Amino acid sequence: MKPPLPPLFILSILLLLSTVNAAASVPTKPTIIPAAPIEVPPTPSPTSAPSQARPLLPPTSPSPSSSSSPPPPPPSSSSSSNSLDPKQLRALQSLNIPTFKDPCKQPSLHNATVCDSSEPFRHLVFLRLANCSEDVALSFTALKSLSTLRSLEFVDCPISPIRFPADLVASLRSFTCTNSLRRLTGVWLSRLENLTDLSVSNVPVNASGPFVILGKMNIIKSVTVSNANLTGFFPRHLNHNLTHIDFSGNTLKGKLPTSITLLENLESLNLASNSFTGEIPTSVGDLISLQNLSLASNSFSGSIPESISAIPGLVHLDLSSNQFNGTIPSFLSEMKSLKYLNLENNQFHGVMPFNGSFLKRLEMFRIKGNSNLCYNHSILSSKLKLGIAPCDRHGLPLSPPPAKDDSSADENSDYDDSDGDDSSTHHKESHNGPNKVVLGVAIGLSSIIFLIIFLVCMSKCCR
Ligand SMILES: *[C@@H]1O[C@H](CO)[C@@H](O)[C@H](O)[C@H]1NC(C)=O
Ligand SMILES: *[C@@H]1O[C@H](CO)[C@@H](O)[C@H](O)[C@H]1NC(C)=O
Ligand SMILES: *[C@@H]1O[C@H](CO)[C@@H](O)[C@H](O)[C@H]1NC(C)=O
Ligand SMILES: *[C@@H]1O[C@H](CO)[C@@H](O)[C@H](O)[C@H]1NC(C)=O
Ligand SMILES: *[C@@H]1O[C@H](CO)[C@@H](O)[C@H](O)[C@H]1NC(C)=O
Ligand SMILES: *[C@@H]1O[C@H](CO)[C@@H](O)[C@H](O)[C@H]1NC(C)=O
Ligand SMILES: *[C@@H]1O[C@H](CO)[C@@H](O)[C@H](O)[C@H]1NC(C)=O
Ligand SMILES: *[C@@H]1O[C@H](CO)[C@@H](O)[C@H](O)[C@H]1NC(C)=O
Ligand SMILES: *[C@@H]1O[C@H](CO)[C@@H](O)[C@H](O)[C@H]1NC(C)=O
Ligand SMILES: *[C@@H]1O[C@H](CO)[C@@H](O)[C@H](O)[C@H]1NC(C)=O
Repeated sequence: MKPPLPPLFILSILLLLSTVNAAASVPTKPTIIPAAPIEVPPTPSPTSAPSQARPLLPPTSPSPSSSSSPPPPPPSSSSSSNSLDPKQLRALQSLNIPTFKDPCKQPSLHNATVCDSSEPFRHLVFLRLANCSEDVALSFTALKSLSTLRSLEFVDCPISPIRFPADLVASLRSFTCTNSLRRLTGVWLSRLENLTDLSVSNVPVNASGPFVILGKMNIIKSVTVSNANLTGFFPRHLNHNLTHIDFSGNTLKGKLPTSITLLENLESLNLASNSFTGEIPTSVGDLISLQNLSLASNSFSGSIPESISAIPGLVHLDLSSNQFNGTIPSFLSEMKSLKYLNLENNQFHGVMPFNGSFLKRLEMFRIKGNSNLCYNHSILSSKLKLGIAPCDRHGLPLSPPPAKDDSSADENSDYDDSDGDDSSTHHKESHNGPNKVVLGVAIGLSSIIFLIIFLVCMSKCCR
């Protein structure tokens, strides 16, 4: 009998193919996972097209986007219809600032200008130059006609600084220079005596110390000189009206003078990433207005002064990456405003005095990198992954602190807080992958062999 054979063969081949496919699909499954990220990069991103050069050029329509910090509000929110002083209009044009839209009408283009409401012509009180092209030159004449400015900002403007006209110096209350003006000197900045706000960042400032800059600024309230390669010492005398000091990211050195605690209006002190040494003045608690204190990444030593407990509104305390020692004071957990506490990478020892309800209240807490510090495991769960060892009965670290920080666990560290078992099951799963492949191949192969035997038997039977 010949007719029954072909359908049987076709059927068997189909069966065979399907089992081969099924077997093949099992091993491909795990390989698809690593393959996916490889496929992503080749797709070229078409977003590189819009050039980032000179976004201050007029866009087709003034878009209400960009710009992070809004300019100070105009002195009077007048709706006066008179227009900008023609001299100032020409000065703006000479600085490549588009004036097709009335610079006095709010919101101005990129919020770069704000005017007063004087008669017969209005005058500029705020000007922000951002994303300048390098061929823009500051001219003395232009700046002289802009001497009504009370606030002047340079953001990403790699143009050369020039000496400011005396009228502009007298008028300016706020000066910002972010990644602009190539390089500045302390003497150049110190002329801006009438400032209440000074902010210089990401530009080298050549000065023998912050005092050179601030010494003659009698009404200064807020000063930022950060990432400026500023050298020297923390000034002994500073204006008592200062509320914000940010000297982070420089090479300042020496001790903090005790006189710093006279700055009773100080709300924020950021000295992170400098080379300061010595101890925190014991009278630091006199800074009763302080909310933010960062001394991170310096070489401070000694213990946390007890007077810190007297600062009622302290929200943010960052002492990380110094050589602080002693025990961690338990009064920290009684400071009601505290939200961010970073004590990592120091030389604290003893039993960490915090319980779970305190740590839960904090928005950020870091303690790792203190090899002689331990936690009481009858109070705190090891699942918190604090990065320090549990204590023995004598309050000493039981085992060397978990070395997981610098190894494979790093990638999971952001999610670790919830449950440690998660990561281990995750690892198990990835190890299960190859086993499943082997199993799939084995099942596939054995079913093929079984099928062939079955077909051979069938064809013999049918004859
Ligand atoms: C400057 O350019 C950056 C990106 O190049 C952009 O995000 C920013 O909004 C621009 N600022 C202004 C004021 O045009
Ligand atoms: C200008 O400032 C206003 C008010 O602060 C804000 O709503 C608007 O988005 C800003 N526009 C631009 C272009 O930055
Ligand atoms: C500061 O402003 C006052 C008036 O507000 C003025 O008399 C004085 O000359 C200004 N100082 C400087 C250095 O321009
Ligand atoms: C900083 O200023 C001093 C004195 O004005 C000068 O001798 C020195 O060369 C300047 N340093 C740099 C890096 O420009
Ligand atoms: C920082 O200052 C030192 C000398 O004070 C100088 O050698 C170095 O080039 C400066 N770095 C920058 C980025 O300006
Ligand atoms: C602090 O500011 C007040 C007014 O705000 C002023 O009268 C006083 O002179 C200032 N003190 C210092 C030390 O500049
Ligand atoms: C104070 O710290 C908080 C939290 O890190 C931060 O958001 C805020 O900008 C800081 N304030 C000042 C004035 O530095
Ligand atoms: C803490 O550091 C200070 C200054 O480095 C040192 O004098 C003191 O002995 C240290 N105390 C402890 C308990 O290590
Ligand atoms: C945790 O510590 C705080 C401050 O020391 C204390 O007020 C609170 O009662 C403690 N909570 C528990 C559950 O022990
Ligand atoms: C840990 O806490 C328990 C309960 O509060 C206490 O009895 C024990 O002495 C503490 N252990 C250490 C080393 O502080």
